[in-house]
Amino acid sequence: LDDLIAEGVRGRRVLVRADLNVPLADGRISDDGRIRAVLPTLTALRDSGARVVVCSHLGRPKGAPDPKYSLEPVADRMAELLGSPVAFATDTVGDSARSTVNGLGDGDVALLENLRFNPGETSKDDNERLAFARQLAALAESYVDDAFGAVHRKHASVYDVAKLLPHYAGRLVLRELEVLQRLTSDDVARPYVVVLGGSKVSDKLAVIRALLPKVDRLLIGGGMCFTFLQAQGHGVGASLLEEGMVDTCRELLAQAGGKIVLPVDIVVADRFAADAQTRTVPADSIPQGWLGLDIGPQSVAIFADALHGAKTVFWNGPMGVFELEPFAAGTRGVAEAITKVDGFTVVGGGDSAAAVRKLGIPEDAFSHISTGGGASLEYLEGKTLPGIEVLEA
Ligand code: 3PG
Repeated sequence: LDDLIAEGVRGRRVLVRADLNVPLADGRISDDGRIRAVLPTLTALRDSGARVVVCSHLGRPKGAPDPKYSLEPVADRMAELLGSPVAFATDTVGDSARSTVNGLGDGDVALLENLRFNPGETSKDDNERLAFARQLAALAESYVDDAFGAVHRKHASVYDVAKLLPHYAGRLVLRELEVLQRLTSDDVARPYVVVLGGSKVSDKLAVIRALLPKVDRLLIGGGMCFTFLQAQGHGVGASLLEEGMVDTCRELLAQAGGKIVLPVDIVVADRFAADAQTRTVPADSIPQGWLGLDIGPQSVAIFADALHGAKTVFWNGPMGVFELEPFAAGTRGVAEAITKVDGFTVVGGGDSAAAVRKLGIPEDAFSHISTGGGASLEYLEGKTLPGIEVLEA
């Protein structure tokens, strides 16, 4: 971005791919973290006199307009946060987009409607994607990718358009890469502790395999811990279980040489509801028919102890169903233990970032809160990220 600004952007149209895929509840934005994360790039361009054309996806509409996934509420929030108007185009590359972009003055900002209302955005057919990328590219003279959360997608606005326009990395993309490089570096500061949660082992398998040799401790909570507990031979009642992953978990435990730390107590409920009956039980004695919905207080203490003295921490995935208050203590306890670490602490993943904000933990208590869930994990797995590869080319 600094290179582009140094070239002089006054009066130039700059297409900025952002990841404004924010959670919406009844049409209202429940967490605006991803909008705030892209502000440094937007203000730098605006204040240098560029005509800023922002585009993003929201949710997973099926390649056609769907009012549920309109970015219009995001344009309003973006204008509030920028403290200056944001013109909203009611389509992505059609008449509204063209006239909105033509109407921009120097330093003005516009947001286009959801990229995924167009089938070309996510198409597997290279020509279809390229045709859509050409329409996007026609709206600007330069392209900035600041959509870190989407760099693992080979989509028209992330990949193909960068081949058509002079391309630059935005401030958020650079910062996220800097952080991830530090987490994967050979001289990462030790002890290095990774905390993983979330519902499925299958989603985290590749990252567990990639991180196990590098970390000193891997703490596992959330819905995925039950498949590991089953692999240790414990019954898990009616808790979430991936039967097909039990053998893999057993192998991982054997390979880990004691690095994997599992919960020793679990908060169980008779049903999945905030007003369910709950009990805290040892992790090896989950009663038949009961669901494990959070890690218990002894587990939080053991996890906190494992985090004590760490110099690098990466946390991805909540420890329980934090959205329901009776099952939030595990996530809160682990998050608080991470905030006490005197080292480099990174929260990765939409759910963990949302948990931090929902639980009212100050964001600056961590070294970095990543905007990328899948993108951060794929980087840590060692995969090539199409949106980064194309910027480097
Ligand atoms: C995310 O929320 O992880 C990104 O915005 C990517 O969204 P997607 O998984 O729908 O491509």
